[in-house]
Amino acid sequence: MMLRRWIATGVVAVATVGVLNAVPAAADRPYDPAAQTLRTLGLRHGLYIGTAVDMAALNDPADPRYREILRTEFSSATAENVMKWEALEPNRGSYDWGPADQFVAAAQRNGQRIRGHVLVWHNQLPGWLTTGVEDGSIGTAELREILRRHVTTVVKRYRGKIWQWDVVNEAVSDPWDTPSTLHYKGFWARHLGPGYIADAFRWARAADPTALLFYNDYNIEAFGSGDPADDKTQFVYDMAKGLLAQGVPIDGVGSQGHLGTQYGNVDTLQVADALRRFARLGLATAFTEVDVRSRMTDGVQAGDPEEINPRLQASAANFHVLLQACLAEPRCLSFTVWGFTDRHSWVPGWFDDPPEGLATIYDEDYQPKRAYQVMKADLIYAGPPYVLPRVAPKPRR
Ligand code: G3I
Repeated sequence: MMLRRWIATGVVAVATVGVLNAVPAAADRPYDPAAQTLRTLGLRHGLYIGTAVDMAALNDPADPRYREILRTEFSSATAENVMKWEALEPNRGSYDWGPADQFVAAAQRNGQRIRGHVLVWHNQLPGWLTTGVEDGSIGTAELREILRRHVTTVVKRYRGKIWQWDVVNEAVSDPWDTPSTLHYKGFWARHLGPGYIADAFRWARAADPTALLFYNDYNIEAFGSGDPADDKTQFVYDMAKGLLAQGVPIDGVGSQGHLGTQYGNVDTLQVADALRRFARLGLATAFTEVDVRSRMTDGVQAGDPEEINPRLQASAANFHVLLQACLAEPRCLSFTVWGFTDRHSWVPGWFDDPPEGLATIYDEDYQPKRAYQVMKADLIYAGPPYVLPRVAPKPRR
């Protein structure tokens, strides 16, 4: 019975791909896939190609290329900063919706699906909140109520407009933290205990029954030892499984995908295996913040091609690994890059000793890099039987 259902699903899927992949042939206008955008090529697989959006760039009248590439190449958008708590509620009780509303309106005008980022995170919290907790003027019960109100207020405001919400972000430590045994880290776990994670998903679901609710983290591209004491992917997997067992409405796990060419990194089969294991829990997955940074050595900064080219190649290879793995897993719904041009990337401002950069798919002058071409080729040459249309989950109640 199960087998028959799988076969039937496969036949429908292959037929659908056949339709999606139908080439608009015309004798005088040969179809040129390389002339298509990432956006249109991704949608052949039902895969949304997204980017983080920098509002300063979006609003810069002198930077029209930013808006043009954003509109043409991407079918999904994430606010890089303006939906974070410090931006939304800089003063207690008074929300500044302006920039977030503008972001949502721009994405809607562009016909893009929106990833909401982020409801609960330990970074970019408003000063009044962290100070109040530190000086004891905000106690535990009040803090939990403040969090409930924040999640509810923000999700309700954008109800029906958000495709995927990053409900909880980066809740788990890394092996280099103290203690090195993986644990729930940061402001929220410290003050409320790990139960805040289940609470946040429940509050978000109550405020919007239609959005897909995600847990989002970095360094979870592949499984390691399998021991949750030092394997972050395993820890997150166990957490997601535990939440599901408690009936918590979590719909997906987002893997950020911040990689660097100086690291060994991972291969496609390992990454595809990790996505498949989350999918078998009944969860959607997504790559949510992909970029691949490199060391900006003196040679790179001086423009030495012998130093630059290997980095561009290695960067492209890493984008390829993540995108190919996502294509191979029908429950991997979207592939979002964390900024698309080196002109506007968080990397140089963050990693400055030693300096790092070159992390995105277009250079500072909006020339597509090798990574862009590799992504395009991945989207062009993928198809059945290993790449099938996406399977979107129903939001869990
Ligand atoms: O808003 C202030 C502004 O008022 C001030 O004048 C200016 C001066 O430095 O700083 C502005 O804040 C900056 C903020 O971005 C908004 O632009 C911060 O300095 C800067 O540190 C902050 O960086 C952001 C970072 O998150 C903060 O944690 C990056 O742009 C953003 O790309 C990055 O994104 C995170 C994801 O949300 C979660 N995953 C990791 C990822 C990369 O760190």
